[in-house]
Amino acid sequence: MTQLPLPYYNDDPNSFAYPTVHKRWPTIIEGCIKDMKNEIESDPKLESSGSDIINKLQELLVAFKNDEEVQLFSDAAIKLNPSLARYNDSLVELNKTKKVTWLTGPWLNLECYLYQIINQYFISSEESYWHDFDVFENLKNQTFQQSELGVLELCKRYEVLTTQLSKDLDNDTLRLLFSEFIDISLWGNATDLSLLAGNVTLEDIQSVQGEANRKKNEENILVNDLSKAWEHLLKSESKEKRLDIVLDNSGFELFADLIFGLFALDSGLVSEIYLHCKDIPWFVSDVMPKDFHILLKQLIDPEFYGSLSSSKENLQAISTVQKRIANYHKSDKIVIKSHPFWTLDDKYWTIPKFDDLYKELLKSNLVIFKGDLNYRKLTGDVQWETTTPFTTSIQQLASSKLPILSLRTCKADVVVGLPKGLNEELIEKYKSMGNEKGEFWSSSGKWAVISFSDGQN
Ligand code: F6P
Ligand code: MG
Repeated sequence: MTQLPLPYYNDDPNSFAYPTVHKRWPTIIEGCIKDMKNEIESDPKLESSGSDIINKLQELLVAFKNDEEVQLFSDAAIKLNPSLARYNDSLVELNKTKKVTWLTGPWLNLECYLYQIINQYFISSEESYWHDFDVFENLKNQTFQQSELGVLELCKRYEVLTTQLSKDLDNDTLRLLFSEFIDISLWGNATDLSLLAGNVTLEDIQSVQGEANRKKNEENILVNDLSKAWEHLLKSESKEKRLDIVLDNSGFELFADLIFGLFALDSGLVSEIYLHCKDIPWFVSDVMPKDFHILLKQLIDPEFYGSLSSSKENLQAISTVQKRIANYHKSDKIVIKSHPFWTLDDKYWTIPKFDDLYKELLKSNLVIFKGDLNYRKLTGDVQWETTTPFTTSIQQLASSKLPILSLRTCKADVVVGLPKGLNEELIEKYKSMGNEKGEFWSSSGKWAVISFSDGQN
């Protein structure tokens, strides 16, 4: 393996890591503290154990402020969550080059470490109530509730799709539909709660949810390998095709992914879909298995989408989609999975070392990776030249036999596969839009990339 570029570090003012650790992480943790206080108020029995957790969260804020050294997880912590042993190994390795502190260490490792340490506070509480408590659940639900118009629009689009699919479709039409529903899933990723802790408003997020906006954003897709993925899917003559989606965020993005999934199943493009979730609360809004079930309940809860329930047609459109998803799930055509690998700080080119997961993914005809964090882990979150080919940046994955499609709206620094000169152009353009740092175009969530590797290099 050739020498990798350096990672992005938290003390680099030209990296999105910098505002993230100085502003976004504290805001996220303060939000957790606020939610914990509300939770405790609702049940006085939780007061003492809840306060313990709040204290730990407050200590973490102090550790950021003082730029403290990042500590190894204790044996007791590893006993509760064996994944943490691997975190310790990577911390020991990183410390060999430079002492790892919160404000100076490598961004990707520390951001993963952060969500693991928060999880540790909950699972190690003496009060079992907190053990499977998701401190981000309220936020996830509230934001999904505010996505009601986007949800309705997609349900109506699905109604039309069912009439389109009732006719015999030629491959060209099917390809166009594939591209449209991939687009829906791609831009669903712009709805990311962790961004709400920064300079993105809820209005910004809602503004990328509709069809008109998806069309407008078409030219912001800087790399588009979709046709390669399409050809790859068609190449296999098997009638039974499996699609895997390594999910990102719950709520609207998950809903958009499920709408894409319905299209893929209804059209016969694939015969089963495996959805990969996180098994701990992760990067604020990531999907855990329970979030899938919560979403199914919310869709048909008259209280949840109150303002839509005045129209019978609206209710009908939503309930059709809900039933369709629930039935596919019941008949194991939509399968929900989780694996501790997804919440390690590993780059994804280590997947082949995780035998059980690797074998499972090798059964797939296409593995879609949703979102920004998955892209950072695919490319290692290191400082690649933006013209580096995607297949170089994913290292051993490019020859792993795993067919990979990444759908990512750009919310961090690393971007690869761009034509020469485009990065420089975008830096100028972003500056001319009134932003101080042109380099931050790649973390603004306004641009996207669709990158493919057939795994056969
Ligand atoms: O905006 C940056 C960030 O918080 C990154 O740390 C992370 O990669 C990303 O957002 C999360 O976005 P997504 O949900 O698309 O993975
Ligand atoms: Mg996410």
